[in-house]
Amino acid sequence: MIILGIETSCDETAAAVVADGRRILSNVVASQVDLHARYGGVFPELASRAHIEAIVPVIREAMAQARVAWEDLTALAVTVGPGLVGSLLVGVNVAKGLALGRGLPLVPVNHLEAHLYANWLESTDEGAAPPDLSFPLLVLIVSGGHTELVLMRGHGDYLYLGGTLDDAAGEAFDKVGRLLGLPYPGGPSIERAAQSGNPAHFRLPRAWLEGTYDFSFSGLKTAVARLVQGQEIPPRFIPDLAAAFQEAVVDVLVTKTVAAARDYGATAILLSGGVSANRALRAAMRERSGVPVYYPPPILCTDNAAMVAACGYFRYQAGARAGWDLDVSPDLRLI
Ligand code: KG4
Ligand code: ZN
Repeated sequence: MIILGIETSCDETAAAVVADGRRILSNVVASQVDLHARYGGVFPELASRAHIEAIVPVIREAMAQARVAWEDLTALAVTVGPGLVGSLLVGVNVAKGLALGRGLPLVPVNHLEAHLYANWLESTDEGAAPPDLSFPLLVLIVSGGHTELVLMRGHGDYLYLGGTLDDAAGEAFDKVGRLLGLPYPGGPSIERAAQSGNPAHFRLPRAWLEGTYDFSFSGLKTAVARLVQGQEIPPRFIPDLAAAFQEAVVDVLVTKTVAAARDYGATAILLSGGVSANRALRAAMRERSGVPVYYPPPILCTDNAAMVAACGYFRYQAGARAGWDLDVSPDLRLI
């Protein structure tokens, strides 16, 4: 069963062809990072225009690289939300046009669920999940827009355990990156700077929100802002501050995820979303988990369409089909 996935929820225009929900035949991502870098964040109007320009060549490239014909496809899968309305509209409308023109079924995909299904894609990287995962699984979704702990009881069967009350983890990385004068996006920049830093040099707060599986990162961000703005932090302390910030985020994410996995008897922990590319997070989770920890290779952690096609495969099997009235859902939740 071969599915073409399309993803345009934020600032990556992506198309991918995946066989049987697991084998990647092609995975094309046109990033707009350079376009948005000078604004220090995603500029929605520019994002949708860039999607319009890139979407057709990106889909053509995905089909060419996969060496499949349109007749070989079983279905199309497209991200309908959550995300930026103008960006989502580009992918959804192109997918509807293609489905109508090629006579293919169209499967609507939730971007958060797609991130989680990146773990089902075949990979030989360290940390890759085996094909025969058994439920229940504890999933940590950490991206630029979301920080959520979810118990996965089966395909499409989720129990929401907790999430951020303010900033998403990736958002905190991006904001702190900007405060420290590091290049956008802040996540990878902070990880790089932290490598040469000593986290013990600064004491930063952790919001534990005892008795819940919820998170809060805005206090941590404010603490960094006070340090940077109140006194001149000499440039040589930037790596230390980056390391202390990263350590604080990782500490809270790992502690809560491991506790939830234990409390719910999860057989394994799955990481997903852009922040799960962070090596400090991966290492700390593995060290403290008590159960196996799996995560996609970095290229499949950040936004891509292979994960949309993988998720689409399981949704297709469950009977999910979009009608011609399919609309975008910018505020869609996983549960
Ligand atoms: O999943 P994603 O590509 O887009 C969303 O759906 O939000 O995640 C992007 C987020 C950004 O906030 C970025 O700074 C963060 O993931 N990120 C990282 C790393 N790589 C990307 N955060 C920490 N460490 C990284 N290595
Ligand atoms: Zn994402």
